[in-house]
Amino acid sequence: MNESKSPGNLRLGVNIDHVATVRNARGSSYPDPLRAALVAESAGADGITAHLREDRRHISDGDIEKLMSELSLQLNLEMAATAEMQEIALRFKPHAVCVVPERREERTTESGLDAISHEEHLKEITRPISEQGSRVSLFIDADPLQVDAAVRIGAAVVEFHTGAYCDYYFEKRRSECERELNRIREAAAYANALGLEVHAGHGLTFETVAPIAKIPQVAELNIGHFLIGEAIFLGLESAILNMKKLMVEARKK
Ligand code: PXP
Repeated sequence: MNESKSPGNLRLGVNIDHVATVRNARGSSYPDPLRAALVAESAGADGITAHLREDRRHISDGDIEKLMSELSLQLNLEMAATAEMQEIALRFKPHAVCVVPERREERTTESGLDAISHEEHLKEITRPISEQGSRVSLFIDADPLQVDAAVRIGAAVVEFHTGAYCDYYFEKRRSECERELNRIREAAAYANALGLEVHAGHGLTFETVAPIAKIPQVAELNIGHFLIGEAIFLGLESAILNMKKLMVEARKK
């Protein structure tokens, strides 16, 4: 991620998975995720995120290869904790690797990793990736016990799942939304105090981004689905510019 381009020390990683989803719906060669990544870069994105799923339902191995060779922005590779994905991360050596839970039947990453139950396995998968110089992040729920496990595993970063907060917001379940936001705030302060870098993402939109962007310990937001959808109406560049503006304004307040 390009630190110098991030006013208020809050970076935006643009997730381009769903450009590949649209491409794959027709089995065509377009729209091209690399082209979207280049537009994101010119719009001020600080990094590009792509999730290589086990079933390759959106991003493919070829996309990762192209992104690694042709992109000047740094790549954050999201992956499940499997031997196959570990080998891919070791081969491509992306700037960052974010380990996420993955179930074939889910539509998206529905909750954070259970880092406590899978501590030894996560250590085995992530240690060589950290040793080669990729920054390892664990995608977890905002739970201090999961944060403790991330520290024991040796992760440099935790990314907090904001999906429940966003769902409650759109379902107008105000007290649950506020409770979830407070959990994220408290977990961010806790993780930061333990020396971890804090990221957040999942389900964020123009309406939900500000309270998360305002959390002072959060250094990076990863946003995809909403931005790619909004690109249909505004264009990708405008969608990203708007999102960054909202992030910067929230951080200033
Ligand atoms: N962060 C992580 C770890 C994710 O797995 C995802 C979804 O791929 C996102 C952020 C972005 O979520 P969304 O596409 O809902 O913005």
